[in-house]
Amino acid sequence: MKIEEITLDQLDAVDFIEKQCKELSDKVGDGLAINALSGGVDSSVVTMLGHRALGGRLKTYFIDNGIMRKGEPDQIARWFGDLGVPIEIFDAKDRFFSALKGLSDPEEKREAITQSFYRDVFGDLVKKSGARYLLQGTIFTDVEETVAGVKRQHNILSQLGIDTMEQFGYEVIEPLIQLRKPGVRKVGEALGLPRQMYDRPPFPGPALAARIIGEVTPERVSLVREATAIVEHELCDSGAFQYLAILHEDKVTGIREGRRDYGYQIEVRCWNSMDAKTATPTHLGFDLLEKIASRITGEIQGVVSVTYNITSKPTSTIEAV
Ligand code: XMP
Repeated sequence: MKIEEITLDQLDAVDFIEKQCKELSDKVGDGLAINALSGGVDSSVVTMLGHRALGGRLKTYFIDNGIMRKGEPDQIARWFGDLGVPIEIFDAKDRFFSALKGLSDPEEKREAITQSFYRDVFGDLVKKSGARYLLQGTIFTDVEETVAGVKRQHNILSQLGIDTMEQFGYEVIEPLIQLRKPGVRKVGEALGLPRQMYDRPPFPGPALAARIIGEVTPERVSLVREATAIVEHELCDSGAFQYLAILHEDKVTGIREGRRDYGYQIEVRCWNSMDAKTATPTHLGFDLLEKIASRITGEIQGVVSVTYNITSKPTSTIEAV
């Protein structure tokens, strides 16, 4: 089925919310829906929309898959708790790491995350809760890139011919599917989310695994997690669309305390973009870039080299994997 985009100009956020709430409420009836909040803009907006439409008929989980940013599960649960939306943190770290073990190919890693998420973790949660619906924050750009064969976004299912009812035992509802990121932010604002939530830089569904070239292990995640915290701290006032740290697979020769140190490389990316479809590298000042490099190599054991990506999308994509 062809999905009609709603552009930012066409979007009346209040009307949109009213219409989506009615559709959601009619569809779920007096049943139960569940959803996963990752703390990204799309899942935060869909959680708030679902809460408004369904109240207690929506159960929201934060799936701690072990590949989230530093302190993220507690922070997000606290933010939503303050808004009166109860969130349950579900520990699924072991399941994700065992599914990712030994995988280096980007599409295989994405597939492992998809299966762990939809089949293993959600399959169980849905069965236990008796829910029939999974609410998720898929947006227009996710569908477009997957269908075009650019990158298989982990949350795309029916558009690839996957029958979720048959394969996983539940139906997926995607109220934001006609919107791009600026539209999602506008809906988030109209729903009363605080700016720090609806205006957050986007964060990918496969989380830090999208930023690790090669195998995703707890040790490698902890390196990229620390680098991400530094990059986010230093660039939060840059006005950029998105900024991130990537861990490379190859090690390089460096020097530490006068001796050869064969260590990791981190690549920093910082993007200007409207909707993530195309993007250009932000012209950051050299002093700032040097400060980031010096903090990363100084504070993260084993990292000896930091680079800044100066490619546009295309040919690059925003994330590395
Ligand atoms: P790429 O790397 O494809 O990213 O240029 C475009 C935008 O989408 C985010 N991203 C994802 N979002 N599921 C998502 O919900 C995914 O699998 C996924 N992969 C990338 C990325 O952060 C960027 O904003």
